[in-house]
Amino acid sequence: MLYKFPVEAPINDFQGKYIMNRYKNAFVEEVANTVGVEASEVAKLVKVPEADRGDFALPCFPFAKQLKQNPAQIALSLAAHFADHPMFEKVEAAGPYVNATIRSAHVIGTLVPQIRNADDHFATSDLGYGQTVVVDFSSPNIAKPLGFHHLRSTMIGNALVNIHKALGYTVKRINFLGDWGKTFGLLAEAFDRVGDEERLKKEGIKYLLELYVEANKLKESDPGFDDAARQMFVKQEQGDDHAMALWELFRSISLKEFKRIYRRLDVDFDFFEGESYYRHGMDEVIADITRTAGTREDQGALVVDMAYADDEPPMMLKKSDGATLYATRDIAAAKDRQERFNFAKSLYVVGTEQKRHFDQLKRALSAMGCDWQEKMVHVNFGRVHGMSTRKGTVVFLEDVLNEARDRAYEKMSSDSADRNIDIKAVAEEVGIGGIVFGDLKNLRASDYTFDWEEILNTKGFTGICVQYAHARCCSILRKAGGAPEVSGADLSLLTAPEEATLVKEIGRIPQAVELAATELEPSRLARALYEAARAWNRYQQAGNAEKSLRILVEDESVKQARLALVDATRIALARGLSLLGVPAPEAM
Ligand code: ARG
Repeated sequence: MLYKFPVEAPINDFQGKYIMNRYKNAFVEEVANTVGVEASEVAKLVKVPEADRGDFALPCFPFAKQLKQNPAQIALSLAAHFADHPMFEKVEAAGPYVNATIRSAHVIGTLVPQIRNADDHFATSDLGYGQTVVVDFSSPNIAKPLGFHHLRSTMIGNALVNIHKALGYTVKRINFLGDWGKTFGLLAEAFDRVGDEERLKKEGIKYLLELYVEANKLKESDPGFDDAARQMFVKQEQGDDHAMALWELFRSISLKEFKRIYRRLDVDFDFFEGESYYRHGMDEVIADITRTAGTREDQGALVVDMAYADDEPPMMLKKSDGATLYATRDIAAAKDRQERFNFAKSLYVVGTEQKRHFDQLKRALSAMGCDWQEKMVHVNFGRVHGMSTRKGTVVFLEDVLNEARDRAYEKMSSDSADRNIDIKAVAEEVGIGGIVFGDLKNLRASDYTFDWEEILNTKGFTGICVQYAHARCCSILRKAGGAPEVSGADLSLLTAPEEATLVKEIGRIPQAVELAATELEPSRLARALYEAARAWNRYQQAGNAEKSLRILVEDESVKQARLALVDATRIALARGLSLLGVPAPEAM
């Protein structure tokens, strides 16, 4: 071999943020020096070519004028400059393009130890150091069980929380519960009339859902009910003991139920600050808006005085009966968050159907002179089709999680080779992981169709495929009695192309994490993990077809080198899954 590569010290470029970038940078720098162009200009031109054409492709047309040569000539002479480059094993001209392939031994020798040293800090960085990101996510309305449709906000939000933390941001997780408004006056009034305390205690939130149906019946049968319900809400606003005790009961029952499911999803919040948290300051908020942006009356209601599109309903702050609204409380909350956290970004993970609300929220704040509204982002998401009951009523999230667990259990009871595992516990991780990954893999703004067959398919772009690759790594390491010390393997023995491809794929994960944050798109990371799992599967297949490519081969040094690679793969997949909020069982 031409080069003996010193294993570089564990870099302090933050556990791999630049893992693959360093090759791109080296390539760009060499080109920039040769051509005499700014490196940043060259960097913009570099593309990832089709497979088999190498790792980077550079079109040479843009340099033709300056160098007074045709692009093909330039490509040839650039390629010649890379002869014997330590980082690139092949740099070739292909017509007007230069294609470069990273030297396998270099990438393996560098990345494998880096990843193993980083361990569960793999793919962290200091990008967001000293900056705070507020994430408003999940935010269900109380007195109704979580529906399947709450999964998207909860899990996209949770992934964005984890990803921003990995990038060094300080993150504030807020659950802006829908826990204030006329509905709770209605429920309290219904409870006073027909409520069953025993059932409420026993059945919790499901009973509240029924009570809501009862309340609507009462509304129809009793002409005085609606007014009484409104009175009840007024009492709640005034802090009346009885009215508030009922509200508090509804809220605490709901919160207890929500937290039970959040625990199952391994999701947590720093603040449960819902709409009720802002109920006291409404007069001040309206006074403030009136003084800054201005307010006006519109059909008896108070609205923000700002420019509206022709067919756009204005942003209502107070209804004709004096009750304040969702929008009023969101303005109060936005200002409060800005004052408390001085955020660099404030994310609202809420479905696309609330686009107008967030649009208006930002415009109102801007009209109020709050320029920081630019840092607020509505992280919208599409709908899930194929997941509603025949009657069109909501599907409870808990029922879906249970079904996922049960289906995974059934599948594992029939296929799992490893009889020593706790199938019940693993089925929970596989089932929930499948649902969560199945959601996060989609571009968040697009709709998708839920499909049970797809969720538990080990071969497709699924959570179980990535989980399975990770569990295989763990089981091989268990069988071998562990991996060698980081410096204890001769990685130059890893010469199979499948090994280099696998290393490059896991090396792309840190960048996918960064893109997931900058684009607010967890699917970037899901995709990178799937590509890594696929590269792993190809490596395994190569070993099945060709004995000498198996991991646990006879030759002890080769075996140790491969175990080091397996360990790096295990670390990268586990870390990636945990950032997405998908469990990574060690056996399945
Ligand atoms: N509770 C609302 C709903 O269920 C979502 C709240 C989202 N957050 C916010 N700050 N508006 O539709």
